[in-house]
Amino acid sequence: MKETIKKLQSYQPAPLPEEVEKKYNLKRLARLSANENSYGQSPRVVTALQHFDFNELNYYPDGYATQLRARVANKLKVDGDNIIFGVGLDEIIAYLSRVFLEPGDEVIVSQPTFSEYALNAQIEGAKVIEVPVQEPSGKQNLAKMVDLMNSRTKMVWLCNPNNPTGVYESVADLRSFMQKVPQDVLVLIDEAYIQFVTDAQPATALPLLKEFDNIAIMRTFSKIYGLANLRVGFIVMSQQLANYVQTIRLPYNLNSLSQLAASVALDDQAFVEDVRAKNRVERDRWEQFFRQVGLQSYHSQANFVYFKTDQAAALGKKLLLNGYQIREGLAPDALRISVGKAADNVAMQKIIADTLQ
Ligand SMILES: Cc1ncc(COP(=O)(O)O)c(C=O)c1O
Repeated sequence: MKETIKKLQSYQPAPLPEEVEKKYNLKRLARLSANENSYGQSPRVVTALQHFDFNELNYYPDGYATQLRARVANKLKVDGDNIIFGVGLDEIIAYLSRVFLEPGDEVIVSQPTFSEYALNAQIEGAKVIEVPVQEPSGKQNLAKMVDLMNSRTKMVWLCNPNNPTGVYESVADLRSFMQKVPQDVLVLIDEAYIQFVTDAQPATALPLLKEFDNIAIMRTFSKIYGLANLRVGFIVMSQQLANYVQTIRLPYNLNSLSQLAASVALDDQAFVEDVRAKNRVERDRWEQFFRQVGLQSYHSQANFVYFKTDQAAALGKKLLLNGYQIREGLAPDALRISVGKAADNVAMQKIIADTLQ
């Protein structure tokens, strides 16, 4: 048994809506705690899955995800061999940590950020160095990260836009950061929420792949494509790095249904545009609300908002009792809410305003 594992706590997935409904005697629960897509998934994906040939379940899936790979490569204008697919980005985060980290190595992350980077680093026995985001902007402190790099530093995780703050870092800022990062430090840009960005177009750091060998870009089908259930994520990185990760990738990690769904989802740009537009309207409404009631929040470019309150626990409970499950526990004085549909956002805002009166 690895000693490191004994000391760690596992990731806590959101509880099942049915269980929560039963426990609190709710007619309906809106799950806004996991940054899922409030607008469902592309109808084209549903149709494609309905036409899936279920008589070939006895065969292993395409271990190279050939069709999906070709479509992603074409869409992102990258070489197909530079892509590694995973069972969600969760699997990619585990793979990367397994390949690149040894006990005693150091990994730099922002505080707060997505918790799985640190958890996976710790599983490998690496030390996690946390760099608080800057106040009041919530921007990640890239200069401080450079200052903290030393010969033990192996990886830097940059979630962009960052979960849970929603704050976006520009490509120009990331480029000037990369120019200061030693070449043997791997920089992982997690773009799980990049398609929700509206402040910059294009928002992605993909162009940096051509400029730096030690950068990698991660994407998922769980968020704007609304396919969280089917578990498809991927990373694009230099050929040499991709070869290392490929060595440990489980041979048939993506099942055929997931490969099909992701391929079809990629082609439905209209769905993506629609979700982005609706999310933007509702996110703006949240920002305006926070300003009106005087709550401190960051300028989110994702599909969730994060705000500070000394009544976090009470508010979380109140929202839950009214059928809104949001994300608590990220910090004692903060809450994160996935942007919901208009009526739900209005209802939640009323509950918050009434509670804080
Ligand atoms: C920043 C970030 N990265 C990765 C993931 C994992 O995504 P996936 O569903 O692709 O495993 C999440 C999920 O919430 C996330 O917020």
